[in-house]
Amino acid sequence: MPQVIVKNLFSKSIHCESNTEKLIDVLLTQTDWMHACGMKGKCTTCMAKVIEGETSLSELTEAEKRFVKLGRLKTHHRLACQVTVTDDVIIETPEQYKLPHLNYSE
Ligand code: FES
Repeated sequence: MPQVIVKNLFSKSIHCESNTEKLIDVLLTQTDWMHACGMKGKCTTCMAKVIEGETSLSELTEAEKRFVKLGRLKTHHRLACQVTVTDDVIIETPEQYKLPHLNYSE
């Protein structure tokens, strides 16, 4: 099954239960991750920066395309509540969405 590594959370490694899971569901099994709109694709707080494995993620959703058009979702960034993980991927929490109660690494 796919593996998600969160580089700036001390390379925390999280195994997916299947290759059809949303990235946010995988993350929330092992860590806290911001998701202000309740995973409806209406904010960008669940954003993840993709370090390696962009092809291991599903295509951009309509919600993501809307944020790309608005300039709020840049290259190599995805919305964790929108994207499905199909293979191994390495991500980071973007600086602006780091949670104050978690310790982050470089
Ligand atoms: S939680 Fe709001 S877009 Fe993902």
